[in-house]
Amino acid sequence: MNKIIIITGGTSGIGLACAKYLIAKNYQVIITGRNEENLEKALSELGKNAFGYISDTSVLHDIDGLVNRIKENHGTIDGLFINAGIFKSIGFEDTNEALFDETMNINFKGAFFTVQKFIPILKNPSSIVLNTSIAVFKAFPNASVYSASKAALEAIAKVLNLELAQKGIRINVVSPGVTHTPIQKKSGMTDEAIDGLLQYLSETSPIGRVVLPEDIAPIVEFLVSDNSLVLRNEKIVVDGGSTL
Ligand SMILES: NC(=O)c1ccc[n+]([C@@H]2O[C@H](COP(=O)([O-])OP(=O)(O)OC[C@H]3O[C@@H](n4cnc5c(N)ncnc54)[C@H](OP(=O)(O)O)[C@@H]3O)[C@@H](O)[C@H]2O)c1
Repeated sequence: MNKIIIITGGTSGIGLACAKYLIAKNYQVIITGRNEENLEKALSELGKNAFGYISDTSVLHDIDGLVNRIKENHGTIDGLFINAGIFKSIGFEDTNEALFDETMNINFKGAFFTVQKFIPILKNPSSIVLNTSIAVFKAFPNASVYSASKAALEAIAKVLNLELAQKGIRINVVSPGVTHTPIQKKSGMTDEAIDGLLQYLSETSPIGRVVLPEDIAPIVEFLVSDNSLVLRNEKIVVDGGSTL
């Protein structure tokens, strides 16, 4: 039977590209998002092997509802791609409590409890992939909370690999470099700043262009597939060599 994979935040950017790739490889895919219109649009692009649910990953009650609906409609699942996330470009000194909480609640707390609440419906074996960022090990200005949220997420992968091993659940990490998606525009960066960043990366990266969501998708597919059955806490950096 075809594997069924959940992608949180699958309505845009990296999540949507992964959903398209997995469907082309005969997986069934369940995507989540907060926005009904974006969800419907994504589902119409993805076709009959895609399913979607509105669920805000930072709201624990929403995660409970999501797990219940998936259990009822799809049974158990083979893989979970923890992808929903936000980035707001803001200096350390201007970062207020609301922005701190929003970022940590979506990127870390939501991710933490999504993994926890999905455990009962994950098959043995199954795969969890955490989407972190090169911002965990390379400094970018205006990304202090974001970097911390992704570092926290990366830190739990080790522990979960020990605690969940008996259930046949493996956890690995994909760590994208700057990838051209709507996240830059949503971050509050000006068009000029975004163009400058993308231009700089195209000129300096060994691949001579920016990383695209389609570059991340085959890596995620590998990590949810049986080809990665023995990997534990592996981190695959997908940045076109920009951090070399
Ligand atoms: N692009 C990069 O340069 C880059 C680099 C490294 C890592 N990443 C990580 O990759 C992931 C995807 O980012 P992207 O670049 O593809 O950005 P994107 O195009 O903005 O996509 C973000 C996705 O997450 C969803 N989302 C955001 N907050 C959510 C919440 N509270 N609950 C449920 N869904 C939520 C969005 O859905 P709605 O529109 O419905 O909110 C959307 O589907 C993020 O975790 C990001 O940190 C990105």
